Amino acid sequence: MSELTGSGDFIAGLPKAELHLHIEGTLEPELMFRLAEKNGVDLPYESVEALRAVYDFPNLQGFLDLYYGGMAVLVDGQDFYDLTRTYLERAHAEGIRHAEIFFDPQGHTRRGVPLNVVIEGITAALADGRQALGVSSRLIMCFLRDLSAENAMDTLESALPHREHIVAVGLDSAEVGNPPAKFREVFRRALSEGFLTVAHAGEEGPAEYVMDSLDQLGVSRIDHGVRAMEDPKVVARLAEEGVPLTVCPLSNVRLKVFEDMAEHPFKEMQDVGLRVTVNSDDPAYFASYINDNYRALRDAFDYTEVELADLARSSFKASFLDESDKQKHLREIDTYLASR
Ligand code: ADE
Ligand code: ZN
Repeated sequence: MSELTGSGDFIAGLPKAELHLHIEGTLEPELMFRLAEKNGVDLPYESVEALRAVYDFPNLQGFLDLYYGGMAVLVDGQDFYDLTRTYLERAHAEGIRHAEIFFDPQGHTRRGVPLNVVIEGITAALADGRQALGVSSRLIMCFLRDLSAENAMDTLESALPHREHIVAVGLDSAEVGNPPAKFREVFRRALSEGFLTVAHAGEEGPAEYVMDSLDQLGVSRIDHGVRAMEDPKVVARLAEEGVPLTVCPLSNVRLKVFEDMAEHPFKEMQDVGLRVTVNSDDPAYFASYINDNYRALRDAFDYTEVELADLARSSFKASFLDESDKQKHLREIDTYLASR
């Protein structure tokens, strides 16, 4: 279906939830330059255009190097507020009603930015976004899996005073060589403290990491999970248990997990009974927000409006919202579809 048929507008107006979004990955070059100037941080790029020109990544690590470099401009609470508020404005414009947002505390504390500055800036923007834009949210604290388990445990402990703001802990950064087992004790402690758990798994790493995230980290959702498709046993387990997967199709293409959308297994994942959802991951770095991902799927797999609405329904069902809020959003989708 083409934009001329109006399906582009359909996607933009479709109420949806975003469940896989790194707040640091929403740092657009314009904001990066503004904050660099404000905070006296030297960026090794002449201009916004020169920075955008290097956003061509060979793999996950190539992206992560730039992503961690970009974080240097985030210094005070207002910076984290502005970053988060800017994302929420964009999310609102894209029809997002609810966002479950990752942040990487160690990416900041290791640069000397205190954890409370990070959390207070982000949560103030989330509260204002709820009030001013009607976008609800949850915060998920990720551990950098290429750092040690001890560092993750220390981070978990220092976050306990902020627990009312954090619904879950997650695991991100360089996957290969940093298996879920490394963080078993940290996740056990997080679960015992009442946090839900999620983990990036099967993005660049093997299907085995998906199974191990279920068995060893007690995760409620898998982030990415695309390489689970390489092992029928893992697929069967995910399908049987109805584990939601927060898939980020255009991220996978930008990071060369798949050559293009035609190669992406999204539709096959649906066809074998996996609970897939659509998400953007790091939209500022991949030049693709959530609606770009819905459009790319529609164009690659000829999804109808009814099928796109089903994907939006899945996003709310897989969220950490309570049941009555889920039902409210599902009714809104029904009304939207009926109005077409
Ligand atoms: N951190 C930010 N984006 C990420 C991704 N796609 N995979 C792993 N860690 C990340
Ligand atoms: Zn991610």
